[in-house]
Amino acid sequence: MPPARPDALSRQILDLKKKLNAVILAHNYQVPEIQDLADFVGDSLGLSQQAAKTSAEVIVFCGVHFMAETAKILNPMKVVVLPDKDAGCSLEESCPAAKLQALQQTNPNFWTISYINCSAEVKALSDIICTSGNAVKIANAAPRDRDLLFVPDENLGAWVMEKTGRPMTLWRGSCYVHVEWTHESIVRIRGQYPGAPIVAHPECTRAVRMLADEVCSTEKMVGYCRSSPAKAIIIATEAGMLHRLRKECPNKEFIPAPTDNCRCNECRFMKMNTLEKLYDCMANLEPRVELSEATLSRARLPIERMLEVSARS
Ligand code: 13P
Ligand code: SF4
Repeated sequence: MPPARPDALSRQILDLKKKLNAVILAHNYQVPEIQDLADFVGDSLGLSQQAAKTSAEVIVFCGVHFMAETAKILNPMKVVVLPDKDAGCSLEESCPAAKLQALQQTNPNFWTISYINCSAEVKALSDIICTSGNAVKIANAAPRDRDLLFVPDENLGAWVMEKTGRPMTLWRGSCYVHVEWTHESIVRIRGQYPGAPIVAHPECTRAVRMLADEVCSTEKMVGYCRSSPAKAIIIATEAGMLHRLRKECPNKEFIPAPTDNCRCNECRFMKMNTLEKLYDCMANLEPRVELSEATLSRARLPIERMLEVSARS
């Protein structure tokens, strides 16, 4: 076991990274000490783009399991490790591949758009993947003669329908963190900070999105907050985002939108990753993402389609 002091441990992780020729990718919801030593911190889209193009031999993915799986699918020759293989996602859990397949069989004209928060097996059944950062663009680019099926986040799907005007059949999944904000909790905080704009993730419910000044992915939140003239901004997304925003915009105040129960704006899956587990996964090269050849090759096409549509101007 490495020494317990976080700064010494961070140095050991960086030494190990050099030795392994590894890259450390971290999602915006990771704990501050992991964000601070990562090579890249970003949203699901940015992390996928980084994973696809890295020349490092080992990808160390600090996020949740489906994100590490996506990195493996995009760059299958690399070793992909993650600090905790049990870091799941309530959206992924809500959509088992067999149930999706059964629904798809009810309508051969379905064009399945899957939010990246799903398993590799669900990706393998999809026509195209999207993230919160490109979902509107992906839906707009979908074939006009097909019936759109959007899985697994009904809130993100409803937001995409509002933005594009394209009807979609929605899977009834949700993020257990983002549905915690309510109309009442947002009205309350707005009353306390009357001049502060509200920024919400599209996984929030419509009642919350309606009150927000901006609805966007975690990476787009950084851009919005940088360019906003406001000195204080209310943030309705997972608490890890506040560390990233405070680093990017040190002169602004970021107010976490309150939920009605304490600490429920922390994703228990994202928070499974610690510096100690990060060190261990690099020292042991375990846990590792392993997928069958068939899943890898079937899941790659819809993700590559997403990256191609996303890059269009
Ligand atoms: P982003 O792609 O916006 O970072 O969202 C990922 C996620 O899991 C939100 O809960
Ligand atoms: Fe999944 Fe929600 Fe956690 Fe994001 S915040 S990983 S959507 S459970």
